Amino acid sequence: MDKTKPFTFRLFLFIIAIFIFIMIITTVRTPRTYRSIPPPRGALDTCPFQISNKSITPLENTKHFLVSAYMDQRVKGFDIRIISIFRRDSIQTLYCLFCCAGQLSNTTPVTVLVHEDHFGFPFSATDVMCQIPPNCEATHVTLLKQPDGVEVSNQTWLPIKNKKTSREEEKTFQFDFTVCISTLFGEYNNVLQFAQTLEIYRLLGVGRVVIYNNSAGPELNRLLKTYSEEGLVEMVEWPIHKHLNPSHGWLFSKHGGDLQYYGQLVTLNDCIYRSMDRSRYVLLNDIDEIIMPYQHDNLKSMMDMLQQQHPDAAMFHIESHVFPYKFFTKGKDTPLPQWRGVPGFNILERIYREDPDKNIFHPRKMIIQPRLVEQTSVHDVLKMFGQKYKVPMDVCRMIHCPTVPQNERLFSQYEDTRLWDFKDKLIQRVNEMLRRGGLLSSDRES
Ligand SMILES: *[C@@H]1O[C@H](CO)[C@@H](O)[C@H](O)[C@H]1NC(C)=O
Ligand SMILES: *[C@@H]1O[C@H](CO)[C@@H](O)[C@H](O)[C@H]1NC(C)=O
Ligand SMILES: *[C@@H]1O[C@H](CO)[C@@H](O)[C@H](O)[C@H]1NC(C)=O
Repeated sequence: MDKTKPFTFRLFLFIIAIFIFIMIITTVRTPRTYRSIPPPRGALDTCPFQISNKSITPLENTKHFLVSAYMDQRVKGFDIRIISIFRRDSIQTLYCLFCCAGQLSNTTPVTVLVHEDHFGFPFSATDVMCQIPPNCEATHVTLLKQPDGVEVSNQTWLPIKNKKTSREEEKTFQFDFTVCISTLFGEYNNVLQFAQTLEIYRLLGVGRVVIYNNSAGPELNRLLKTYSEEGLVEMVEWPIHKHLNPSHGWLFSKHGGDLQYYGQLVTLNDCIYRSMDRSRYVLLNDIDEIIMPYQHDNLKSMMDMLQQQHPDAAMFHIESHVFPYKFFTKGKDTPLPQWRGVPGFNILERIYREDPDKNIFHPRKMIIQPRLVEQTSVHDVLKMFGQKYKVPMDVCRMIHCPTVPQNERLFSQYEDTRLWDFKDKLIQRVNEMLRRGGLLSSDRES
């Protein structure tokens, strides 16, 4: 009988020891490399007060702009990546402030990563990286210039996207393929090309086309409204000209301006993060470009083969081939009778393919696995967690149908009627979409 007493006491000590052990483990297991700074004084203790629903949000009292905030824990020590546009000569110390289930958090330090491909422009695509403080159910984030002592009631908050969901474990994606069209600008109005190219994408298995829209011509606007109501196209407003003087070119020394090509690199990077949780692959190309399998009927069967052959590949590099403008200016490129009066050109007329001049820089575009890519440029990925694979020409080429005559050198040419393999379905679907948009000549006459 007496034995039970020391036993109970020892059990008690043992439980206490375990309890202390667990306390130590849980404290040590979540190391935080920054000093936790108390919440700003004078701040409202509820948040978020003012939420940005814009695609370009000026960061108060700085020269920078924020685009979108994404949860991204792939790089050790960081939880959040804010895709931004920073003025490179005016980068100052910044702090992240979070809204945690309606309460302000402590601030955490920021690491500013300016993308190396800025082509000399004063403004550049930039990633703002920071940690979420412990015990914070973060819903929104904003940036401060001081760690504390500032009035934050006037801050604009960004919602945090790509927060983990149970869906992630299932590894099912809403789309197999998403095409990111970086920026549409200059009242572009090539309706026939747009409708045909979108339908080819669809026939190849693309489920979503994201278009960053600065401006478009009147007929193209009607077509794109039809496509976004129907669901293939996602339009993102991109009024960059209201904030900066965007360049029409890609090189500062040659084209001038504040930011490369209407912010093309910013939108491509934003599109990758936007697509990360919902699309297996992302294609980074322009609307005058079609990444075309030559041995498979669609992108899925091609990628199933390539990914199996190259399991470590995060990026698939596709060679660009020009189908020049030159031949089709006189007579030959008359569209189908019902397409007369529809603005733009008929891509089915482009049946001569040029061999690239291997002596000059030869552009490639990309198919990527977005979850393995951190930062991208136009023709190459800047940072990724996997390998690059150059896809052979006989498996896949990019059909590039330039809108304007290029530097047409015309080396060896080949007749290439690959687009015609999609002709019947293509014409039918294009007619249907033009009809819905009220863009066919018969609609206009009636
Ligand atoms: C943003 O919010 C304003 C008012 O708060 C609203 O009028 C506008 O339509 C919203 N814009 C978008 C793109 O949701
Ligand atoms: C608060 O925000 C408004 C609009 O965003 C701005 O006009 C005003 O100058 C800001 N006030 C301060 C004190 O920064
Ligand atoms: C594209 O942007 C322009 C300028 O903001 C706008 O007027 C137009 O309606 C947009 N087009 C579509 C299809 O959203």
